[in-house]
Amino acid sequence: MKVLVTYRSVTGNTKKIAEAIYGEIEAEKDIKTFREVESLEGYDFVFVGYPVEGWSPSKVSKRWLGEHVNGRKIGLFCTHGSPEGVPTLTPWLDAMKAAATDAGAEIFNFFNCQGEMSQRVVDMLLKSDDPNERRFGEFGREATMGQPDESRVQKAREYARETMKKL
Ligand SMILES: Cc1cc2nc3c(=O)[nH]c(=O)nc-3n(C[C@H](O)[C@H](O)[C@H](O)COP(=O)(O)O)c2cc1C
Repeated sequence: MKVLVTYRSVTGNTKKIAEAIYGEIEAEKDIKTFREVESLEGYDFVFVGYPVEGWSPSKVSKRWLGEHVNGRKIGLFCTHGSPEGVPTLTPWLDAMKAAATDAGAEIFNFFNCQGEMSQRVVDMLLKSDDPNERRFGEFGREATMGQPDESRVQKAREYARETMKKL
C-alpha cells in the first residue's frame, strides 16, 4: 500500500494537519503540496487537504481537484477560522466536500478543524458588506490564535489512524 498526503496551505495550518496525518501512516508514503504533485498514479490512497478561503475552497484548490481526483477514493481534511460545530460552518464544509465530489472523488473519510486566521483575513471580513462576515471578523484573530493546537493535531492523528484501519 502506497499513500500520499497532499495539501494546499497558505499560512501553514493545513500543512500542520497534513504533517500530523503523514506521521501516523504506517505504509509506504509521501507528502507533497498540491504544486508538487504531477500525478496520483501509483498511490493506493490519497489524503487531500485544503483551507476554507472565502466560504469554500479557493479556485486554486478547485482547479487542482479537477485535474487530479476523478475516480479517486480520498481522505479529505480541511481547516477554517471558525470553531468546529458552529452552524455557519455547515454550508462551508458542504462546499469543501462538494468541490471534491464534483471533481469525481469519493470521500472515504473527512476531518476538519479550526486554524488561526491571518490579520489580512480578519481585516477583509471587517470591511465586508455582509453583516455575518463582519461579525465573524469581530470575533477576531485572538479567538483563533495558536490553532490548530495540540488537541486538534491529536484529533488529526486519530483521524489518520482510523482511516488507515478502515481501508
Ligand atoms: C483568503 C482567505 C479567506 C478565508 N475565508 C475563510 C472563511 O470564509 N471561513 C473561515 O472559517 N475561515 C476563512 N479563512 C481562514 C482560513 O480558512 C484558516 O485560517 C485556515 O486554517 C488557513 O489554512 P492555511 O494556514 O493552511 O492556509 C480564510 C483565509 C484566507 C487566507
